[in-house]
Amino acid sequence: MNGSRRADFPLLAANPGLHYLDSAATSQKPRVVLDAMRDYYEHDNANPHRGAYALSARATERYHAARERVARFLGVADADCLVFTRGTTEALNLVATAWGRANVQTGDEIVVTALEHHANFVPWQQLALATGARFHVCPLTADHHVDLDALRRLVGPRTKVVAFNHVSNALGTVNPVREIAAIARASGALVVCDGAQAVPHMHVGFDGLDVDFYAFSGHKMCGPMGIGGLVGRRAILEAMPPYQFGGDMIEIVGDERTTWNVLPHKFEAGTPNVADAVGLAAACDYLDSISMDAVLQHERALVRLATERLASVEGVHIYGPPPAERSGVVSFTLGDIHPHDLATILDEDGVCIRAGHHCCQPLMRRLGVSATARASFYLYNDESDVEALVGALQKARALFATPTGV
Ligand SMILES: Cc1ncc(COP(=O)(O)O)c(C=O)c1O
Repeated sequence: MNGSRRADFPLLAANPGLHYLDSAATSQKPRVVLDAMRDYYEHDNANPHRGAYALSARATERYHAARERVARFLGVADADCLVFTRGTTEALNLVATAWGRANVQTGDEIVVTALEHHANFVPWQQLALATGARFHVCPLTADHHVDLDALRRLVGPRTKVVAFNHVSNALGTVNPVREIAAIARASGALVVCDGAQAVPHMHVGFDGLDVDFYAFSGHKMCGPMGIGGLVGRRAILEAMPPYQFGGDMIEIVGDERTTWNVLPHKFEAGTPNVADAVGLAAACDYLDSISMDAVLQHERALVRLATERLASVEGVHIYGPPPAERSGVVSFTLGDIHPHDLATILDEDGVCIRAGHHCCQPLMRRLGVSATARASFYLYNDESDVEALVGALQKARALFATPTGV
């Protein structure tokens, strides 16, 4: 990738002084994505699947083509195994509710890791509470990786689910998906992977990952808000009961009983989100035109630089593994300045970072902090964003300097 892609993003192009370092929360949107959605609404908009007229057929075709495109981006050969959802949260709730209620019983065990976002923690915790299953949280090593030895000890014959993220949103840790999946498989557990922070930043190749379910969000990968998906194995999706009931997901509705539509429609009740699916497909085109390897390399270089430069700011403490083992996220604290105060001060210089628990309270407890500051990088960032971050931190440090402070 040659330099940053800032010029492709209207919001960034219109705000030259803005240093957007919060892409792990949501990415900015390139013009091609905005144009694709507008094009759909201006030329092909109708309710798909239902109309017998040409316009509705076009809307159906665009929705279908979007699914095929996104599946190809994810390395999913059977596009019917990609269910569109509102995002990762809905995808994980779908599995925990539909699969979980049908398959998990009292005395079974569910294992998640201490790195999980609440979206991959709370649905499993609640499933355990509702069914009487035991809920285990796998600890981390000192360098903030999932402790695989501890995982081997936790996973046993009663383990029904092992749920973990591909990449941590709070620390950037990249997890060894195949190794974790192999540990889970040895006990016959369902393997559920939260890919929210992986899909935007690296080539995923679902069919080679050996997981049963993989969830992601479009808005973190240059796509619109309100769409994402769940990829699952066909046999498991077919055997599972539906998640929601209503239009589109049925085959025959009798007075007493109803039968279900085929995949993926069985899990997509109601009018689908066609325009956002079209936008997401355009995001896949955009990212592939750059290449995911180039995106990853660009981010790694920025994270390396950011880690080096942040080390020059007295009082900065960085959490998470070394730069070569993480994605485009740098989580840190500066002395005893509260991360929220830090984010507010940085904003005065146009530097947008996230501060808080990053929807990872179980992780924060284990790190012994209530919050961190997080800078996250994407393909439109460059060295000037790193310099702006470091400069603004130096200012914050000077502002808060006290004899006992930083
Ligand atoms: C690792 C991870 N999982 C799940 C989610 C939830 O994604 P969404 O809010 O798009 O459903 C996020 C969002 O930040 C995330 O980073």
